[in-house]
Amino acid sequence: MTQLLQLNIEQFRNCQSSHFQLSKGLNLIIGENAAGKTAIIEAVWLLATGRSFRSQKNHHLIRHQQSQCTLFAEVASSTDTDKRHKLGMQKSADSTLLRVDGDNVKSQTELAKLLPIQLLTPESHKLLEEGPKARRQFMDWGCFHQWPEFMPPWRNYQRALKQRNQALKKKLPAAQIQLWDQILVDSALQVDQYRRQYIDDLTPYLVTFCQALMPEIEFEVRCHYRAGWPKNTEDLSALLQANLIKDQQLGHTQYGAHRADIRFRFNNQEAMQILSRGQQKLFVCALLLAQASLHEKVVNEPVIMLIDDLPAELDANHRLKLLELLQLLNIQHIITTTAQDLIPILDAETTAIWQIRKGQVSAQ
Ligand SMILES: Nc1ncnc2c1ncn2[C@@H]1O[C@H](COP(=O)(O)OP(=O)(O)O)[C@@H](O)[C@H]1O
Ligand SMILES: [Mg+2]
Repeated sequence: MTQLLQLNIEQFRNCQSSHFQLSKGLNLIIGENAAGKTAIIEAVWLLATGRSFRSQKNHHLIRHQQSQCTLFAEVASSTDTDKRHKLGMQKSADSTLLRVDGDNVKSQTELAKLLPIQLLTPESHKLLEEGPKARRQFMDWGCFHQWPEFMPPWRNYQRALKQRNQALKKKLPAAQIQLWDQILVDSALQVDQYRRQYIDDLTPYLVTFCQALMPEIEFEVRCHYRAGWPKNTEDLSALLQANLIKDQQLGHTQYGAHRADIRFRFNNQEAMQILSRGQQKLFVCALLLAQASLHEKVVNEPVIMLIDDLPAELDANHRLKLLELLQLLNIQHIITTTAQDLIPILDAETTAIWQIRKGQVSAQ
């Protein structure tokens, strides 16, 4: 499902009320520092994922002096623009209301399914730089969109892990801890299969986009998937059992799908070690483009790409290259910038431009 046709943002951050009719190619938002550019990117991301990348608290998101914010989007299938859906989110300080096509829905995944979004911000490098959590989210995003069957075992795993860890923390008897082992193991093995397959499917795309964005690197990237338990493990149940005492001492479960990771290597060296800062940013772009291309191939719909402050991320040549690739892949993109001349317009027909000042948006 994937073209954003309309986006309405009300009482969100410094934005009182902004309405966008989006173009199917580049959507460019230009404004000075603190104008509210990131807020717009944040609003779309929040609607699609239920999470902000800047704040966990609802009251930070709601415009000062207001009691609630409202986000609305209309999306259409790129192959059949008559197939449309309306997504809505209303947040007050302590509650969130979600709607799809006028009906209340309980789960954020209903919105996420209809709005496959990728995000590139100055923080995106967390994917390489920080711990494995961001990389697991990256894998799980792909699995979620590629296989509807992925969510049930993933949810079962999260629930069982939470219960087991609570039992460990409360120092309950061993039997009450091990009550969760079977479901934990079954769901971990399923989640593991999907993640493994996803990384296998993704790798050729990643190789292609690394070559396109960083032709100067002569080595091919390799992805090393780690399940979250030692490689030679034959029986995960037995491993959990053997580590019960250690788990009890630590108060949490050491091994499992919650410890999975992917490492990226060039010529057998970690990407972080071999790539310059600029190349690390390009590598993150390559990861997102690989994910977008695989998504398009499997789901037959492109993703939407949000890019906050593109000029801060890439130099002029690489900006051009990225924009060319986005156009080639038919990916609708929303890009923010402080100055228009930093972003080349490749196709005026599929471009829309807005100026933003103090949270007020005007079409250009
Ligand atoms: N809840 C809020 N209500 C009103 N203004 C806010 C709120 N949260 C943040 N702001 C203000 O919104 C402005 C826009 O910030 P931001 O989106 O980061 O701008 P930009 O990305 O254009 O630099 C900032 O001046 C910030 O202080
Ligand atoms: Mg910003």
